[in-house]
Amino acid sequence: MKVCVIGTGYVGLVTGVCLAEIEHNVICVDKDESKINMLLNGKMPIYEPGLDKFVEKNVKKKNLIFSSDVESAIKSQDIIFICVGTPPTSAGKPDLNSLDEVSKLIGKSINSYKVIINKSTVPIGTAKRIKKIIKENLSEENKNNNFDIVSNPEFLKEGEAVEDAFFPERIVFGSDNEKVINLMKKLYEPIINQDFDYANNNPKKREKVPIIITDSTSSELIKYASNAFLATKISFVNEVANICERVGANILDVTYGMGLDSRIGTKYMKAGIGWGGSCFPKDVRALSFTAEEYGAHASILNAVIQVNNYQRFKIIQKAMDLLGIIEDKIIGVLGIAFKPNTDDTREAPSVTVINKLVELGAEVRAYDPVVTKIPPEMDQKVIISKDPYETLKNANLMVLVTDWVDFLDLDFVKIKQIMKNPYIIDGRNFLEKKKLLDLGFVYRGIGY
Ligand code: UDX
Repeated sequence: MKVCVIGTGYVGLVTGVCLAEIEHNVICVDKDESKINMLLNGKMPIYEPGLDKFVEKNVKKKNLIFSSDVESAIKSQDIIFICVGTPPTSAGKPDLNSLDEVSKLIGKSINSYKVIINKSTVPIGTAKRIKKIIKENLSEENKNNNFDIVSNPEFLKEGEAVEDAFFPERIVFGSDNEKVINLMKKLYEPIINQDFDYANNNPKKREKVPIIITDSTSSELIKYASNAFLATKISFVNEVANICERVGANILDVTYGMGLDSRIGTKYMKAGIGWGGSCFPKDVRALSFTAEEYGAHASILNAVIQVNNYQRFKIIQKAMDLLGIIEDKIIGVLGIAFKPNTDDTREAPSVTVINKLVELGAEVRAYDPVVTKIPPEMDQKVIISKDPYETLKNANLMVLVTDWVDFLDLDFVKIKQIMKNPYIIDGRNFLEKKKLLDLGFVYRGIGY
């Protein structure tokens, strides 16, 4: 099938690559020419493990083309995916400017019947908004050209996006048009049936993928409610971790004991510094905003956000407990990305924690295996080091913020020698506590 994917961020690029891999003819477009030029030169605009291999393979096979000519791509393809960003505004409401702009352009460019698939995470009711904008912008000669809209939310996790695209746990189609649903099933057929030849074939996941067919509003809500629920799980566990600290319990044992109950489950049960990234913070706020807008009370969602904000400041409290006055102390931070296997720093806990430590007068150094520049929202006084030992030299305190697996292999004997004080705050309960205590470190986890 002839597919156009608008937007080459995480969702767009991964979707385009996945559809090309299952033999569709895909054009990925972006108005940002610098991104398209990178892709044309074989470079990835995002850090996503495994993605480059699939891009290279499908460009070679001519299944995948990159272009900044959005209009021509819409005209030449039959199926148009909208994968543009919907960043939060200060009020919490998602900014739909890019989505509106793209919808206008689709309307102006329509020259034959098209199926428009929305994958951007959007407020409830947006499918109808896209339809209206497209209709308003159809040219006179194409007034009779029909189009249909489907909501098809994305559940990719950064760092595991390629795997998630090939092995989704469910696929949601929001449309009441049977013809379009059948076309969507055809489009995703190899993924639904799990019968394609995929290099990292994982036999455990070869069962048929469940499809949910619903109206567009419910489809949009499935996406928001899923992310909000996962964030709720983490905030809940963080609250329990804080209780553990007060009563002397161990959160790792508590969550393990809870998680073995299949009604609760073991995933998204890791206590720590709190959730961040481009989705959870934005989506929980957006759902809370919608709830208020429609007169429903979002008490749980608001508490989930509050617990998450507080969790980051727990790290500062722990630093104060260990160091007393923070001014002039040297603090080495391990991890800047909001989670491992990504270079994404949007709403990363590192930003809040480092900014506060700098504000309190600390000299903060930070190291991350892939983030090598100071993120724009971070205080520019922070020193980014090229290796973790440089970060920790003469430091009064180490704060682990991101659970990069690389940090498990650090030479802690050496670290103990080069640090001024043997203090570790492990914001992810990730390091081997017993080993560190045996080496003479003072270790503080989260509820552990
Ligand atoms: C999330 C959703 O998982 C995905 O389905 C959706 O499409 C996009 O949003 P992502 O933002 O890539 O994906 O990150 P995810 O791996 O879900 O983690 C989100 C945050 O929660 C991270 O900051 C992570 O460190 C934190 N987290 C996760 C915890 O603190 N504890 C956990 O147990 C799990």
